Parts: sequence; structure tokens; C-alpha cells
Amino acid sequence: MLTQSLARPAETLFVPASSPPLTRMVSLVTTARLMRDNPMAILPEPLFRQTRLTGPYLGRSVHQVSGPAEMKSILQDNFSAWRKSPLIMRMLTPILGDAILTAHGESWRRQRMTLQPAFLKRRLDRFAPLMADAADAAVETLNTPAPVDVHHVMNDTTFAVIERALFSDVEGFDRGEVRAAIEVLLEEIGRVRYSDLAPFPEWAPRLMTPGALRARKVFRTAADGQIRRRRALDDPGADLLGLLLKVRDEETGQGLSDVEIRDTLMTFVAAGHETTAIALTWAFYLVANDPDIQAALRAEADAVFGQGVPSAEDASRLLLTRQVIEEALRLYPPAPILGRRAVEDTEICGHPVRKGDVALLAFYALQRHETLWDNPNAFDPDRWSASRRPADRYMSMAFGGGPRACIGAQFSMMEAAIILSVVLSRLTVEPAHGDVVPVMQVTLRPRGGMPLRFRPRPWDRRASGAAQAV
Ligand code: HEM
Repeated sequence: MLTQSLARPAETLFVPASSPPLTRMVSLVTTARLMRDNPMAILPEPLFRQTRLTGPYLGRSVHQVSGPAEMKSILQDNFSAWRKSPLIMRMLTPILGDAILTAHGESWRRQRMTLQPAFLKRRLDRFAPLMADAADAAVETLNTPAPVDVHHVMNDTTFAVIERALFSDVEGFDRGEVRAAIEVLLEEIGRVRYSDLAPFPEWAPRLMTPGALRARKVFRTAADGQIRRRRALDDPGADLLGLLLKVRDEETGQGLSDVEIRDTLMTFVAAGHETTAIALTWAFYLVANDPDIQAALRAEADAVFGQGVPSAEDASRLLLTRQVIEEALRLYPPAPILGRRAVEDTEICGHPVRKGDVALLAFYALQRHETLWDNPNAFDPDRWSASRRPADRYMSMAFGGGPRACIGAQFSMMEAAIILSVVLSRLTVEPAHGDVVPVMQVTLRPRGGMPLRFRPRPWDRRASGAAQAV
């Protein structure tokens, strides 16, 4: 893989905010409180030096893992011995149904095989122009004298991208009303309640708030209407909804049902919008605090797409931009901890695991592990250059791993590269934040937002060209 080298002495690197690890034993009640408020706070300090810690939890064992071999053992080698954790299933299923993110066994396999072709690179390239349009709109919003909460703006930006990628055209559909409904549903998915932590069986229903029930109805009615309308057309279209209507399982020739398509639409919004927004938020924070990298990114944008906007092909040539995004994903994996439950007796790298045990895959600890990385807490995009990037793909896991690894990884890397590069080609960015505290609320977010100050590039050729024309 081609990459860009920008090696710098260790002592000059920016060391960004980190999440303080747990340094003491805590009671079960405190663990439950930390799980509800900020699950990052349960990651024990030794997990950044060791690769597995096993402890008791409600009559079972919990295995917290932070090594590449342990990750591979769970996600790849013993894949069928594990299922997503009951907590995550209870929170997601009422809203996402049995779509690809929450399905297991044959239902998951069929949906994954059917959907995979929709995410081939040549199919995704067509979305580059709408990503560039969304980036243009972000430039307009960020370009104000006062500090702007970049997390908020990136949320709007990536929402616009996923919504336009799913539904390029809609009829009888109020985009504003559906957006508001989706926000309510994402909020409902993300809020852990104490009752979610009780050891109820997975099938026990989760009570939804009346607002969330209403929002689910609004979303489902709107999506069902679009599916019906597109099915009636000769060509259902080239956006993601059109592709979902066309894709077939290669073995059986079977397509997705209307309910599966509807739940997949919601799944793509839930899995793809906030995750990409947060990756971009952290990337802007990092480059705001590292003027050298920022200047290098701007030079790369100038060299690759000049005064235009990046095409899909340009996006794959934005090598340093991609390295910065990879480094942001290492330091702040949007999904910092994944939970799994063993459905049969198994093992993690030779360590026995009983059916019913829980594994917490601590990507955050893996990706800042003291024994795996030089300067683990420093921002160093050069570690992703050709000569230094880790050979073991299980060392950096922001997109998960094994058969259930993120299906949207290429989509979001192209999106993030285009947005970061377009914004930095037009604006400079400086810190306007106080203390930065990463907390896990659905994704790994900066508590209270991420205010940054954006200004037009002093020598912006576009601006000076316009001035000369006047
Ligand atoms: C920076 C952005 C993203 C990150 C960090 C991310 C992260 C992840 C992770 C960690 C998983 C594995 C979950 C598990 O094994 O329990 C996953 C799965 C998934 N992601 Fe992403 N994701 C991102 C963007 C997207 C986008 C843009 C889409 C869709 C357009 C998407 C759709 C999915 C789906 C459908 C799955 C489930 C795959 C399966 O179970 O077979 N993601 N993602």
C-alpha cells in the first residue's frame, strides 16, 4: 500500500487527551454505575500492559482482552463460539430488528453475503460527489469567526451523506421529520439504563419510551413508503436503497424482504453516521493541535485536487489524509469496546472460557498498548507509512475484525478523507477547547463537544481570485 512519510522526533509529537484508566478495585454497584455513565471508566490500568484480565461477574467470568492474538481468537478463530453481548442486543434489536448488525447464524450469513456486493469499491465510487457536496456545506458552516462545535457540524455532515447515499430522491417523505425521528432512535439506542445491565434473558423486551415508539413509527412508515414506491419502478435506482432492492444471494438467488431492507436502512444510519462523524471530530482536534501535519495535509489537498473537489480516485490518492484518519481511529476508536458472550465452551489463546462467559474486547486499550506501540499516546500519523505500519491487522481494530468486520469501512474512509481534505484545503483550524475528556456515550466522544476555531486560508487562491475579479 502506498503511504506518505512524515517522520518526526518523538519529543515533538502532540500527546492528545486520553481516558483515565481504572486504578482501583470497585464494587459491583460502582461497576454498574460506570457502565451506565461511561464504560471507558471500567478499563483497568493493567490492561494497557497485559493482554487479558479475567474476573468474576454475576456468577460468570468476564474476560477483558487487549492483545491482537486475543482479538483474533474471538473474532476470527473461534467466531461461531461467540455472540454479541446480551446488553447490546437488548439495546439495538427493538430499533434495528434482525438486520445485519444484530442478526446471528444463518440469518446473518445470508444478509452479509447478499449485502457485500453493494459495498464493492466500484459501487461506492459513485458516492464521492455527494460526499464532496456535504464537505462544501460543512466549510460554509465552519467558516465563522466564533469557535464552532465540530462534533455537531460533522454529525450534520455525515448525516447528509448517509441520507443522500440511501435515498437520492424521495417522494412523500419529509426529510426533516425523518431526521428528527432518527435522532430520537439513536438517542434511545445509546442510553444504557440500569435495567439493561440486569441479567435478563436476551429475549426479554426492552421498554421503549413513548417518544422512541413514535419515532420508530415515523421512520418505518417513511422507509416502507419509499420501498413500495421503488419496487414499482422498472429500475429501483443506483443509491443504496436501489442496490438493496437489487442485490441477491449468489448461492440462492434470493433477495432481501421489505422488512429486512427497512431495518438495513436504519442499521446503515445507526452504524455509519455517528461513527464517521466522531472519527472526523477527533481528526480535526488532532490536526488543530499539530500545525505541521495540518500544513502537510493542505499541501496534499492542493497537489491532489487543486482548486477543484476530490473525485473517488483522488480520495484514494490522499495518502497522508488517510494516515491521519487511521491515527485518529487508533487513538479514539469510535466503538472503543465490543462485548461478546460465549454460546459454547471455548478458549481465548489457550485460556478456557465457559459457555455464558462474557468477553470485552477493549480496542481502546489494544490501540494504546504499552507493549505494542512506540509512544502509544502520541499523535504520529507516520506510524501508518509503508515502512512502519503494523503487519498484524489485529493491532488496530476500529472497524472490528473477522467475518463481522465493518461492511462500511471503505465507504467511511472515502467519506472521511474527502471531508477532512476539502475542509483543510479551504480553512485553517486552531484549538478553542479547554480540557478534553473522551467519554463513551454510544461512541467515544469528547465530553461537551469539541469547539475549534476555523478561519479562511490567508492566501486562499479562490478568495484572492474573487477579489481580483472585483
Ligand atoms: C469510522 C466509521 C465506522 C466505524 C469506526 C465502524 C465500526 C464498526 C465496527 C467496530 C463493527 C463491528 C461490530 C461488531 O463486530 O460487533 C462494524 C460493523 C458494521 N458496520 Fe461499521 N463502522 C463505521 C462506518 C460504517 C458505515 C459508513 C456503515 C454503512 C454505511 C457501517 C455499517 C456497518 C455494518 C452493517 C456492520 C455490521 C457488519 C456485520 O455484522 O456483518 N459502518 N462497524
